[in-house]
Amino acid sequence: MKNIEDYKIKNLDDFNNQREMAANEPELFWSGIASTFQWNKKWKNTLKYDWSIPNTEWFVEGKLNITENCLDRYAKSNPDKKAIIWEANDPNEDFKVYTYKELLDEVCKFSNGLKKIGVKKGDRICIYMPMIPELTIAVLACARIGAIHSVVFAGFSSVALAARINDSSCSVIITSDGGFRGDKITPLKKICDQALKNCPTIKNCIVYKRTSEKIDWFKNRDIWWDDLIYGLPDKCDPTIMNSEDTLFILYTSGSTGKPKGMVHTCGGYMVYTAYTFMNVFQYSQNDVYWCTADIGWITGHSYMVYGPLLVGATSVHFEGVPSYPDWGRFWQVCQKHKVNQFYTAPTAIRSLAKQPIDFVNKYNLSSLSVLGSVGEPINLEAWEWYYKNIGKGKLPIVDTWWQTETGGIMISSIPKVTKQKPTYATSPLPGVNAEIVDNNGNLIEESSAEGILLINFPWPSIARTIYGDHDRYKNVYFSAYKNKYFPGDGALRDENGMYRITGRVDDVVIVSGHNLGTAPIENSINEHPKVVESAVVGYPHEIKGNALMAFIILYDKIDDNESIKKEINDLISNSIGPIAKPEKVIIVSGLPKTRSGKIMRRILRKFANNDMENLGDTSTLLNPEIVNEIKNTLKLLN
Ligand code: PRX
Repeated sequence: MKNIEDYKIKNLDDFNNQREMAANEPELFWSGIASTFQWNKKWKNTLKYDWSIPNTEWFVEGKLNITENCLDRYAKSNPDKKAIIWEANDPNEDFKVYTYKELLDEVCKFSNGLKKIGVKKGDRICIYMPMIPELTIAVLACARIGAIHSVVFAGFSSVALAARINDSSCSVIITSDGGFRGDKITPLKKICDQALKNCPTIKNCIVYKRTSEKIDWFKNRDIWWDDLIYGLPDKCDPTIMNSEDTLFILYTSGSTGKPKGMVHTCGGYMVYTAYTFMNVFQYSQNDVYWCTADIGWITGHSYMVYGPLLVGATSVHFEGVPSYPDWGRFWQVCQKHKVNQFYTAPTAIRSLAKQPIDFVNKYNLSSLSVLGSVGEPINLEAWEWYYKNIGKGKLPIVDTWWQTETGGIMISSIPKVTKQKPTYATSPLPGVNAEIVDNNGNLIEESSAEGILLINFPWPSIARTIYGDHDRYKNVYFSAYKNKYFPGDGALRDENGMYRITGRVDDVVIVSGHNLGTAPIENSINEHPKVVESAVVGYPHEIKGNALMAFIILYDKIDDNESIKKEINDLISNSIGPIAKPEKVIIVSGLPKTRSGKIMRRILRKFANNDMENLGDTSTLLNPEIVNEIKNTLKLLN
C-alpha cells in the first residue's frame, strides 16, 4: 500500500505531474491519495457531483472514522511521537506534551464521557473553549463517536453563541470556567450561562476547570469535565461513518443575515487537509510545526487539528497572544520548541512589525524553514518585514488563499518547489481549477487577467451545504455563475499565471483576519432605540488590514455623540463580539440612496477610504445633497 508521503511534491516535476494528473484524471488522482488512509470499507464512486443542484460527494459509500486516521494509526506505529506540544499563556507555566498514544487515550476517555450523557452519532455538540488541549480532545472525541462538533470561537458574545447553538440545535455545550488570554481572563462559563437562557435544546454543559474562578452552577445541567470522565476506560471503539456523513459545522459570516453553518464531511475533508498540509508546509517527519491560529476558526480545524494529525505531525498549540508577556513571545516559543514551520496571519505580522526589532533578534530562529500567511491579502510591507526579519532573507513564505467554505488551502506556492511572489498567493494547488471572469461573467482566457475568482471543478473538501439552508448555499456560491463555485473574492493573474487575491467583492470585510459581514453589524446598531438606520463599510487599516466605519442616522440630534458611540460599541460587543466594533462611528443626517431605496455603499466606501472626489456615477441618487453633507462631516472630523 502506498503512503501519503508518496504524494509529497519534492520538485517542480512532481508538481507539474500531479497538477496534470489532477486536471486530466481527478478521480484517479484523488482516489490514489485516499487509498493511503485507513478505510473500513472502500468507496464505490470516487466523485459524484452536480453543481446545478448543487451536490458534491467524494469517496461515495466509503466508510471510515477520521480519528482512527489521526490517532490510532500513529499510536500503534509510533506511540511516543509527540502529537501536541501545548504552550500556556503564561511562559512560567510548564508546557505539556501529548504523544499520539496519550492523545488517543484522552480522546477515548472523553468520548466515553460524551456517550455516558447520551450523546449519539449525528448529535450536534457546541464547543466554546479557550486554546487548551481539552479543546482538541473535545473536537476529536466528537469525531470519534460521530457527533458533529460546532466550535464557536471563544471571543464571540453570549448572543452570538446562542444564535449558533440554536441554528444547529446543539444538545451539549463544552466550555471552561474561564480562559487566559494575555493579562485578561475571559469568563467563558458566565457567557455560556447567559447564552443558555435562550437555548432550549441544550441538556448538558460540560465545564473544564482552567482558571478556577468563581462560577454559577446549575446542578441538573452542568458537569465538571473531570467528574464526567472519572473512572472511564481509555478505549473507545470509533463509530464507523460514511464518507459523506457530517464531520463538523463551522459558522462563518455572510454578507446578509445570520451566520452560515458550513457543513464539512468526513472522507473528502480528511484526504484534502492531509495532502495540502504535507505539501504546502513541506512537512517532514521530525519537524515541529506551529500554526498560531485559534481552533475556533477553520485554520485551526484544518491545520492545527486534522491536517497535522493525519500525517503524524508534531504541532505546537499556543494558548496566549503575541504580545504577552511581551512582543517577543512568538519568537521565544519558536526558539524554545525549535519550530520548523510557522504559520500566522498578516494582522499579527503587522502588529509585530511595529515593535522594536530587538524582540525578534534576541531569539535564535535558525530552526525555521517555512513561513506561512493566511486569512487576508498580505501587503508588501508586512511581507517584506516577515521575509527579512523572520526569514532572514532566505526562507520561503507561503501565502495561502482559502476559506471556511473550501476546507483546505486552494492557492499557495510550494516551498522551494514553485516560485513565490510577494503579495501573490501564486499557484492553484493540484486539483484546484481556478479561473477569472470579468464583471460580465465572461471567462478571461489570457494569462494576465483581473476580475472575479471562480473554481470550476469540485475538490474533496468543499463544504457540502449550509446547515439547514441548502437554498442559501446555492444562492451564495452557485447562482451567480452557472455550475461554478463563487468564493466572493476578486483576483488578478499575472503573465505567468500567478494569482493575487485582491479582496472581497461582497459585503464581507476582513478585519484582523476575521470575516465580518456588515449586515449583522448594522442589524445590531439598528437595535439602539435612538438609531434610525446605519451602514457599515470597510476601509484599509495599518494593523488590522481593514477596519469598519459605521455611518448612522439618529432620530433626534443629541449633544453627547461620544456616549452614543460607546453605547453602539457595547451593543455590538454584546450581540457579536468585540472584534466587530467599528473603528469610527460617523453620525449623519442621511445615507446616499438609490431611487429604489438601496444604500449606495460604493460611495460610503470611497469616503471611508478618504477618497472624496472619484465617486463615479451618482445620477441615480435619490438624495444627492447628502453626499456633500457627509463629505463636510468627515472633513470636520479629520
Ligand atoms: O477574502 C479571502 C480571505 O479570507 C476569506 C476567507 O475567510 P475565512 O473563511 O474566515 O477563512 C480564513 C482562513 C482560511 C477569503 O474569502 N483570505 C484568506 N486567505 C487569504 C485571503 N485573502 C488573500 N490572501 C490570502 N492568503
